[in-house]
Amino acid sequence: MNAQELAARHEAVNEDAESYWLEEAKRLDWYSFPTTANRSSFDEGDFGIRWFEDGELNVTVNCLDRHLATRGDRTAIIFEGDEPGEGYSLTYAQVHEEVCRFANALKACGVGKGDRVAIYMPMIPEAAFAMLGCARIGAIHSVVFGGFSPDSLADRIEDCGAKLLVTADEGVRGGKRIPLKDNADKALEKSPVEAVIMVRRTGGEVNFVEGRDRWWHDLREEVSATCEPEKMNAEDPLFILYTSGSTGKPKGVMHTTGGYLLWVTATFDIVFGATDEDVFWCTADVGWVTGHSYVVYAPLANGATTVMFDGVPNYPDFGRFWETSNRLGVTIFYTAPTALRALMREGDEWVKQHDRSQIRLLGTVGEPINPEAWNWYHEVVGDGRCEIVDTWWQTETGGMLITPVPGAVKTKPGSATLPLPGVYTKLVDNDGKELTGPAEGNLCLTQSWPGQMRGVWGDDERFFQTYFTTYPGMYFTGDGCRRDDDGYHWITGRVDDVINVSGHRMGTAEVESALVAHPKVAEAAVVGMPHDVKGQGIYAYVTLNAGEPESEELRQELRQFVRKEIGAIASPDAIQFAPALPKTRSGKIMRRILRKIAEGEPDKVGDVSTLAEPAVVDALIKGAQA
Ligand code: WT7
Repeated sequence: MNAQELAARHEAVNEDAESYWLEEAKRLDWYSFPTTANRSSFDEGDFGIRWFEDGELNVTVNCLDRHLATRGDRTAIIFEGDEPGEGYSLTYAQVHEEVCRFANALKACGVGKGDRVAIYMPMIPEAAFAMLGCARIGAIHSVVFGGFSPDSLADRIEDCGAKLLVTADEGVRGGKRIPLKDNADKALEKSPVEAVIMVRRTGGEVNFVEGRDRWWHDLREEVSATCEPEKMNAEDPLFILYTSGSTGKPKGVMHTTGGYLLWVTATFDIVFGATDEDVFWCTADVGWVTGHSYVVYAPLANGATTVMFDGVPNYPDFGRFWETSNRLGVTIFYTAPTALRALMREGDEWVKQHDRSQIRLLGTVGEPINPEAWNWYHEVVGDGRCEIVDTWWQTETGGMLITPVPGAVKTKPGSATLPLPGVYTKLVDNDGKELTGPAEGNLCLTQSWPGQMRGVWGDDERFFQTYFTTYPGMYFTGDGCRRDDDGYHWITGRVDDVINVSGHRMGTAEVESALVAHPKVAEAAVVGMPHDVKGQGIYAYVTLNAGEPESEELRQELRQFVRKEIGAIASPDAIQFAPALPKTRSGKIMRRILRKIAEGEPDKVGDVSTLAEPAVVDALIKGAQA
């Protein structure tokens, strides 16, 4: 897209949003084309997010059926396993058949429209079949990242009331096996489901519960290869995806059928502009929103070829991304800054030994990218030839909101640049006062966009409370942002109690409650700390029960404990034993102080006079682990 075309879009949506969105809606095939577009309000009185309210469609018809006549033989999914070259390709016709079979298998297990299905899977095509199989029959999927613990899986199954779980015998990552079914069995002891569909990935020996568990390869043979798609209303739920917030347990972010699909379809096209010549590789796992939107839904809705990668960037060596890109003919590559920082440290040779001349566009997502990593991506990976899109968005936004549009927006290393057409940002200070011109403040969105989340599963009040009460009348992103003279956006990171570890969100409250569940821990406070590769690391202040001796072993034990409770991504990078935490006289922990110490800037702790015991601060500074 060139600058004029992009400007025309901005102008069109600014002038008459309703017409613009109804025109955009033509990107999808509908049973019943919507007569209205946006009917949303961020205000307390008539709060609600609604798009294309009277439209009817099916997501899988858009992702699969509509391509069959013209591109049934085109590759839809290229699967690349953990071992280089361990994989295969599937055409649109093949994926269509597998999805129909999966949908029928779900039905055979008693799943119907509106039922919830949990998916705990490796990055194999069956994960996509399961997601799309749900969408085919109007069931609501909730994918749980395969790196989460049995307890985390159990919590999510219970919260969404899943009827069925789709899992695999084992996963394989970096040559190591991950006991998915074992984990699932443990989770199901706590939160049972009626039925389990298990995919054979490794052939490893697993427990099998008669009457509850079914093998996918058996079911697949028993069911028909065709399945009528369910007519869904645009506002019917498509999926629930749990994400961490600043308080309490992870919340089930709910996305719906019409608006979500349109948003990811449009943004994929506008930003990546994939054609029949392209092979698109987004390295995210389907356990995260990036995997939902840009591994599965958007590429397929656009009829593109998408890569599903079940490995890691450093296996068998640090050249994996580039070796595989070359072998598969990848032309558009989309990954997280944390992966780039990790690879950058290993030297340029790992990149340069592979031909990358077929790559034309590079993207990043998930966390701020430091200019150094951006430049390395541009110069070394892209040979100074490829444009880079630094795409800012969130689980809640469904798809990209702030990003350069290649060919139309000049990039600056480290900036996500400008909002897409129909996205309206506002920076406010902590009192909610609008900041104009170049400024730094809290990033809000003033108007709804089709891909916006519609609710927190099972807790309508929490949706409004979390996002629309901090700055009334606006959606608050939780991010800080600087806007420069050119209006470019520079995301500075979370300003709430959420830590972004390697592009994954972790709530400090979650890690704290895992720590205090340990019998030797009296109290814990968790903050983020700067980390060279992960962006942010997890820094935990732990107060032990009286008389409990501090030791390196206990530190290790606590790390393991959190890993077991939540998953490896939550394991603290630093643990400081703290005899006491800095509290105000009313007992509130002053996190600002803890953050500054963790950031290695103890001289910036600021005013400590309101603390009940200001002396604890000196003790904490002495024991700092940074
Ligand atoms: C948070 C959302 C977007 C899908 C993956 C993460 C941070 C995301 C960028 C970016 C700076 C970014 C923000 C945001 N973030 N992309 N390009 N530049 N920060 O989704 O887990 O919901 O996390 O990730 O802090 O709020 P998520």
